[in-house]
Order: sequence, then C-alpha cells, then structure tokens
Amino acid sequence: MTGIAGRHVVLGVTGGIACYKACTVARRLTEAGALVDVVMTASAAEFIRPVTFEALTGRPVVASLWEPGRALDHVRLGRDPDLIIVAPATARLIARAAQGLADDFLTSLLLARRSPLLLCPAMNDQMYAHPETQANLKKLKSSRVEESKSGVTVLGPATGPLAHGEGEGPGRMVEPEEIVAHAERLLLAGPPFAGKRVLVTAGPTREALDPVRVVTNRSSGRMGYAVARAAWRRGAEVTLISGPGSLEPPFGVEVIRVESTGDLNAAVGKALPKADVLVMAAAPADYRPETTSATKMKRGAGGLRLDLEPTADVLGGTVGKRKRGAVIVGFALESGDPVGLAREKLAAKELDLVVANDATEPGSGPDAPTNRVALVSKDGVERLPLMSKDDVAEHVVDHVGVLLSRRG
Ligand SMILES: Cc1cc2nc3c(=O)[nH]c(=O)nc-3n(C[C@H](O)[C@H](O)[C@H](O)COP(=O)(O)O)c2cc1C
Repeated sequence: MTGIAGRHVVLGVTGGIACYKACTVARRLTEAGALVDVVMTASAAEFIRPVTFEALTGRPVVASLWEPGRALDHVRLGRDPDLIIVAPATARLIARAAQGLADDFLTSLLLARRSPLLLCPAMNDQMYAHPETQANLKKLKSSRVEESKSGVTVLGPATGPLAHGEGEGPGRMVEPEEIVAHAERLLLAGPPFAGKRVLVTAGPTREALDPVRVVTNRSSGRMGYAVARAAWRRGAEVTLISGPGSLEPPFGVEVIRVESTGDLNAAVGKALPKADVLVMAAAPADYRPETTSATKMKRGAGGLRLDLEPTADVLGGTVGKRKRGAVIVGFALESGDPVGLAREKLAAKELDLVVANDATEPGSGPDAPTNRVALVSKDGVERLPLMSKDDVAEHVVDHVGVLLSRRG
C-alpha cells in the first residue's frame, strides 16, 4: 500500500512563535513511519529545546554547523532526503535562502539541496506583506535544482489570529495537518495519478418532503472522502461532489456541495467530460417524494402515506458520456449476495470496478468507520478483510492506478 513509511524527511525549524506547531508536524510524520531529521536554527532553539524534537522523532537533532561528528552532514542532509520541509520559515530564513547564504546548518543544507522543498512561512502580517519578503518568496518559488521535481512549494501563510495581540492578517503558519498532507503529496505524487483528473462522489442525498423534512439515508461520506484524499495524495487533481454531512473536506480537493440526487446528477454530468477517473461512492436516494409541500406539513390524527418516484440513475446515466479511456468505479451496498449483484452492476453500468459490501455485516456499512469489501472487476474478485475506510480507499485507488496504467 502507498504510504510514506521509510521515506526520509528533513524538517527545518526556524525561530518563529509557530515553532510549537512544528512539534506536531514532526510527530505526525514520524507516526506515519517517515524518518524525520530535525534541523534547528539557533533562534528556533530559543523557543523549543532540541531534546523535544529528539523525543518526538527518536533521532538526533542538529542545531549547529559545529557539532562534533556531523562534519559534512549539511551536504548529506541537503542531498539525500526525499523531502525538505521548513516550518515555520521566518522572514529571515526566507531572505537568507533567497540570497543563497550559507551561514548556518539549515541554510547550508538548503544550498546543497537536491530534494523538493516545502516552505511554510510564518511571521507578522506586515513582515509578510513587505516587498522584500514578497520578492524573496517569488525568487525562491522560481528556483529549481537539477531534477525538475526538486522545486520549491510555498504553503501559506494562512489568514487568522497571529501571536498575542498581533492582528489577523496573512502571516500565520498553516496548520500541521495541512503541512503533513502536502508533504505526503510531494512524497507520493507520480504516475499514473499525477496530472489526472479524478471525480469522486460522496455522502447521502436529501429529497425534500417539505421545507424542514427530508428523505435520506445513513451514508456518512467517509468512504468517498477517503478515496478523494488518497487520490490527491498521489498527485491527482481531485473534485469531490459531496452530499450533506459534517466531514472536514480533504486538503487540496475541490469540493462541490449538493443536496438532492438531481443536484448530484447535474454536477456529475458537468464534471464528467474532463474526468480520467470517476469513483461513485455517494449513496444517492433512489426515490424522492412525488410532491414537495411548500409549507410545513401539519401533524394529523391519522397515518401519512408518501408517494415516491424514482430519481435519476446517476451512474447508469454516465454511460456513453464518459471521456475515452476513463476508469469508472461504482459501489454496491447490498444485503444479500453483494458480489453477485456487483458483477451484474459491473456489466449493466459498464464499470471497470465495483466495490461490493454487505449492509448487514457487523462493522461495515454506510455510517461505520470500517468496511469489509470485495473488489469486483473483469480480473476477478479480491476479498479484503475488515479495515478502516482510509485503508479501503488506498486499495481502491491502488486498483484504479493499475487500470489507469494499462490504458497508458
Ligand atoms: C517572541 C518572538 C516571536 C517571533 N516570531 C517570529 C515569527 O513568527 N516570524 C519571524 O519571521 N520572526 C519571528 N521572530 C523574529 C526571529 O526570531 C528573528 O528574526 C530571528 O533572527 C530568526 O532567526 P532564524 O530565521 O535563523 O531562525 C520572533 C521573535 C520573537 C522574540
């Protein structure tokens, strides 16, 4: 499965108040299995002691060019890692890097760099807006070394509260989760997903009965969100069409919100012609009320009969309208013989892959955090054990990757 375990990351930390967030970045990368070497400037070590990062990463921290036993490590650590992150990046570090100064371990390492660099500025809003800082950032963004993939990505800064009493303008370092997500994408992006457009649908739809009541289902959207996140991490440009729900949108993914199956159908129809991959993980309502009351329906003494009519078949409706060579994935949530029904769906809706799961299976289903699924394709059936929806998504995206590669 695709992850960052075993990948080598250098995390440069400079003397800004956001140093405390760098601890979380180091922690999350280490938890994901990356080997994280932290390099601190002298100012950073005034904010946080190196021992904190040593404890978080389990690896020695460099805080000076002159440490015994580390002669030439500034060259090795510039050349060897898969990725260099500087978070937070102070105005001073940005200025020194833009000038090509090599006056401490971190700037020497940046000059010897052969790896991609992810730079996360953090400073007072006026320092950030200053023309010198802007010119330095512009220069760094255009700097490339040797291989084309070794460019500089500047992430942020965000707009939000700065250090105590220092206003709200752009200058705040982006949150650690966003830094880690971008680091993963820089580490994992490549063929066959890089540059491909992936369209994912997720969540339930709602069909209005009256202004306050809806017909809907239990879908949480987790599965589709996980697929969108996994495809984005591998370098795809991802659009997520999401029904109502409370999940945080994945970083970097364009999110289009929809309410009803009709909305979903229209949004899929619009985005489909450009999609290299369509993953239909949404659970659209199959029926909607024949009529929608413009006013709230009153409670009566007797029962209430609802007349429902079928909604559009969103996935079936894409047949004949797909981009040539597009990989199309459906989900089949059934409560009897899901694999058999998935095979039928594969043929009837001209799909490349159907992810089948049993709605009655414990730990599986639309609102569970886990799923036990079978991947059904022309190649056969791959039954997976019960696992998190994030892990299911990685398997699905692996499979899509194989299909994309075959199509060239
Ligand atoms: C409390 C405090 C907070 C600071 N926060 C920042 C900051 O967020 N961004 C920044 O560019 N400089 C900040 N500075 C100034 C830097 O620490 C100073 O420019 C230092 O020389 C940076 O060195 P370095 O880039 O080598 O780490 C701060 C200074 C202090 C005392």
